[in-house]
Amino acid sequence: MKLKIVKGTRDLYGDDIIRFQRLESAARQVFTLYGYEEIRTPMFERTELFAHGVGQDTDIVGKEMFLLEDRRGRSLALRPEGTASVVRSVITDNHMQQSNHRRFFYMGPMFRYEQPQKGRFRQFDQIGAEYFGVTTPDADLEVLLMLRHFFKAVNLESVSFQLNTIGCQKPECRPAFKKKLIIYLELHRSHLCENCKRRLETNPLRVLDCKEESCIAATSDAPRIYEHVCGECSGHFGQLKTMLREHKVSYELNHKLVRGLDYYSRTVFEVYSENLGAQNAAGGGGRYDGLFEIYGSPIVPALGFALGLDRLAMLIPEIEQESGGIFVVGHDRSKVTGLVAMLREAGYKCLYDPFQASMKSQFRQANKAGVTHVLILGEEEITNNTVSVKSMKDSNQVNLPFDGILEYIGQDLNPKN
Ligand code: HAM
Repeated sequence: MKLKIVKGTRDLYGDDIIRFQRLESAARQVFTLYGYEEIRTPMFERTELFAHGVGQDTDIVGKEMFLLEDRRGRSLALRPEGTASVVRSVITDNHMQQSNHRRFFYMGPMFRYEQPQKGRFRQFDQIGAEYFGVTTPDADLEVLLMLRHFFKAVNLESVSFQLNTIGCQKPECRPAFKKKLIIYLELHRSHLCENCKRRLETNPLRVLDCKEESCIAATSDAPRIYEHVCGECSGHFGQLKTMLREHKVSYELNHKLVRGLDYYSRTVFEVYSENLGAQNAAGGGGRYDGLFEIYGSPIVPALGFALGLDRLAMLIPEIEQESGGIFVVGHDRSKVTGLVAMLREAGYKCLYDPFQASMKSQFRQANKAGVTHVLILGEEEITNNTVSVKSMKDSNQVNLPFDGILEYIGQDLNPKN
């Protein structure tokens, strides 16, 4: 049997895991400051949750879901994104009963059957946040401020925000704009790719963010949605832009930004970095004030975002080797393992050679591991019931009674160094 990893998936270890951990812990720390609570939803849900919420005509639902059937023939889907699941939990577990506004964040793997390429996988990780209950644009501002805060915390200040509004479902808002857009697109039909000719019928807004050269050119003079939304949506967007300027959040308006999921209304945004290339957003999100209604639940205004962890990790430069800890060398297996266990329980990272190779080799291993101290349990030390402590920084060595070792180390080393 030839073992092979599944296409579009990968194993994470070494520096990649350190990058993931840094991003995840910064997100936990920063999001908590803004009142977000962690939520973990199942990795699979009933397929209809995504079909209704994300939208039948989206690529994610139409082409990219990993579907399974349970033993009773019910269709389940590996989650392609987190928003629908969190909304499902808010509804099924009545989270809004506790307060009229709730904030949740999540992190974990998502699954999409996409063509794998740099920064695009079939299993990838997202860090997401969802804010429920508030209609006013200060909620949009807060979410964008939190994102800026997060990027500062992980030293990724080169990322930029693109912003748009896609209005609401009122007849004079997005539906009226769609009609104008269709008229424009029909005039340019011959320049559109085959996919967009089809989208013209099913989801004309998506033509605006097609990445085909000919479609980009054909839509360059298309009507701008932010100039055509209804008075209320335009007011919301205007207030948000004013507040963003007041808080010195820089952003670029992008009238072609419409997002690939159907649940959005009003504000939409994406996060970009030059280093990821033009096609790859590091994250995206927006408002989805209408999603609860689609699920037949009382309206709850909401907004949120998700960041692609795999893509953010690519932006984090080289990881310096983590140094620190203690290495115990010696040949008396029970004395060595006893000391190691004592040090670990006292809170120190502690290593030793389970194969008890030569002292020279054990010192070489200690060097390679980058520890700050080597504890020596040689024959002499064992006879005298002492331990020698060698500092790897300055090679200074002291001999101490075995019983005083923790006290000495406590003065010289911080636990978990
Ligand atoms: P999304 O734009 O579909 O939004 O995904 C968010 C981010 O996930 C993307 O910007 C990208 O960085 C990452 N991502 C998506 N697909 C892949 C892939 N195949 N491989 C690697 N990374 C990927 C959502 O998922 C919405 N739920 C965001 C949201 C939350 N909107 C409101 N609340």
